[in-house]
Amino acid sequence: MTPKLIDTHCHLNFDQFDLDRSEVLQRAHDVGVVAFVNPSVDLADSRHVVALAQEIPNLYAAIGFHPNDAASFNEAALSELRELAQQPKVVAIGEIGLDYHWNESPPEVQKSVFEQQLTLASELNLPVIIHQRDAAADTMTILQQWANQPHPYLVLHSFSSDLAVAKMALDLGFYLGISGPITFKNPKELPDVVAFAPLSRLLVETDSPFLSPHPFRGKRNEPAQVKLVAEKIAQIKGLSYAETCQQLTENSLAFFHL
Ligand code: NI
Repeated sequence: MTPKLIDTHCHLNFDQFDLDRSEVLQRAHDVGVVAFVNPSVDLADSRHVVALAQEIPNLYAAIGFHPNDAASFNEAALSELRELAQQPKVVAIGEIGLDYHWNESPPEVQKSVFEQQLTLASELNLPVIIHQRDAAADTMTILQQWANQPHPYLVLHSFSSDLAVAKMALDLGFYLGISGPITFKNPKELPDVVAFAPLSRLLVETDSPFLSPHPFRGKRNEPAQVKLVAEKIAQIKGLSYAETCQQLTENSLAFFHL
């Protein structure tokens, strides 16, 4: 029997999949991917993802504003997110956070939009998917304060920081999302992070259509390739592929209350 996996972060609603979405879903199914979590980047995207979740049986929606789209966030958007969260199959708030690499909105705007959405997640008791790029220090400062109060599950998606940040995140009770870069020829500290973190605190993801694993780097990514990420984790952990998948899938089911 093919071990089951859940791709906990893929943008299947993006137009990169418009021409062959059903084939992409079939290929994922063929390698054992049994469910998908599709995060959103702004309000229009959130509506789109919620609608797609009504069409695709094993696709679940996360809603929210990516930091690159923080400038379009306002009171009306916040209340629409609150309403959208009531729709069936909305399982998380995300992806939200800080991005000082692209810096498409001023850092102060990004922080405010991030904090308002963290508050929304707490209020709704929905798990949170964090995007962070070149902003680890500010992200962790905000999350440390937030984690002081009772909070839902939280994952640092496509984790790419160093071991020190990973330890801090694990101490706060967070999960680490592992994606294609773990398979790269220069994975930096990621293998150390995966070796250090308990398997029970890892989630697997593709971030499709981005971050294709080796040897497909630079090409369009798709959820079937989450298998390559799980294989790499199994190798680092010295476990069989089947037991690795079993634990990763249990983690995802618990995290997203699927
Ligand atoms: Ni993403």
